[in-house]
Amino acid sequence: MIKITLKTLFSPGKIGIVQIKNRIVRSATFDGMASREGHVTDQLIDYYKVLAQGGTGLIISSASAADTRYTVGSRCMCFNDDEFIPGQKKLVKAVHEYSGVKIGAQLAHNGLQGTHPKYKPVAPSPILYKATNKVSEELTGEEIEEIIKKFAAAGRRAYESGYDMVQLHGAHGYLLSNFLSPYTNKRTDEFGGSTERRTKILVDIYNQMRDEVGKNFPIIIKLQALDGVEEGIQLEEAKKIAQILVQTGFDAIEPSGGLAELQMKTDNALPSKKVKTAEDENFLLPAAKMLHPIMKNCALILVGGIRNPLIAEELLQTNNCDFISLSRPLIREPNLPNRWQEGDLTPPSCISCNSCLIAIFTGKPLHCVVEKRLARRKKKKST
Ligand SMILES: Cc1cc2nc3c(=O)[nH]c(=O)nc-3n(C[C@H](O)[C@H](O)[C@H](O)COP(=O)(O)O)c2cc1C
Repeated sequence: MIKITLKTLFSPGKIGIVQIKNRIVRSATFDGMASREGHVTDQLIDYYKVLAQGGTGLIISSASAADTRYTVGSRCMCFNDDEFIPGQKKLVKAVHEYSGVKIGAQLAHNGLQGTHPKYKPVAPSPILYKATNKVSEELTGEEIEEIIKKFAAAGRRAYESGYDMVQLHGAHGYLLSNFLSPYTNKRTDEFGGSTERRTKILVDIYNQMRDEVGKNFPIIIKLQALDGVEEGIQLEEAKKIAQILVQTGFDAIEPSGGLAELQMKTDNALPSKKVKTAEDENFLLPAAKMLHPIMKNCALILVGGIRNPLIAEELLQTNNCDFISLSRPLIREPNLPNRWQEGDLTPPSCISCNSCLIAIFTGKPLHCVVEKRLARRKKKKST
């Protein structure tokens, strides 16, 4: 019998050579708080300070653009020019002022899910994106090389800004997962076909970025482990992809899944499935169980419906993962890690209604809609 205390959850862990003070990661969460041009704002800094104060060991940033034309939403942080570095430095410094909190920059390209009125969506193949009814333009080999360079340069800027690591957004139907998936990658050149060829863009980005940032800066990935469509990535293939990434040198993998078009249709699909009962919790555990045995020195970060600290502890103790990762619970309750550490083990007050997601899809800055409503009611009552 394993004795359940929170001793592992609140013990340090490592990603590459970077020590994290506990095993709690804030999973990348788009916040729409940058300036229109993609610069860090005071609002953004204040938001990250609250997260850092709440006790999370590692904060992964909002999905940020490697190329300003292909942001995943409006008011998105950008990394495509050195002019963004001074603002990024301020953000990192503000987080580092909280005892031992680490921060990683998530780098993304929207791929076929692009919605910019001026720039057509681009992808490995011409694919209809059902949410906008637009067909993506097929990237040429030269354009793919350009994108690889942009990711590598963005990684270098994150490094120069003082970030502790970089996370590639290789999930949720954005560009890098468009390459991985047989559903969206129909190419016949070196970037399409076999699993190895569909994974090549990630290997190339890793290698070019590694040259820019040196050997000690962790490069990690949020990885599409299942698309949620029959013709797409399934867990068995995700294992092969992960094997290539481990061999390449990635320092951590956070398996995830889902496509925006499915999520918009059902409002209860990956990556942010609703969590109403205990059975709904830890919904990406099957992916972790599949991948963890092949991870070697690469850390596994488990995300998706983690709500019970005792179960989180058990999953760490039983070697299903090395870190657990939270998104929606920390939107409502950024102080949750401190609360758990202080012994109040009640689950997060987040009801995973996904109103936060709908709010950011409609261009509002990230906030807990329920919390705001409750605060309004309280104020009304007291006046
Ligand atoms: C409002 C919102 C924004 C999100 N933005 C991102 C993002 O920028 N990058 C990313 O990889 N995942 C993003 N996600 C997915 C979460 O990181 C996470 O994978 C998912 O919500 C499941 O974890 P949870 O049950 O702890 O919320 C977002 C989720 C929500 C609810």
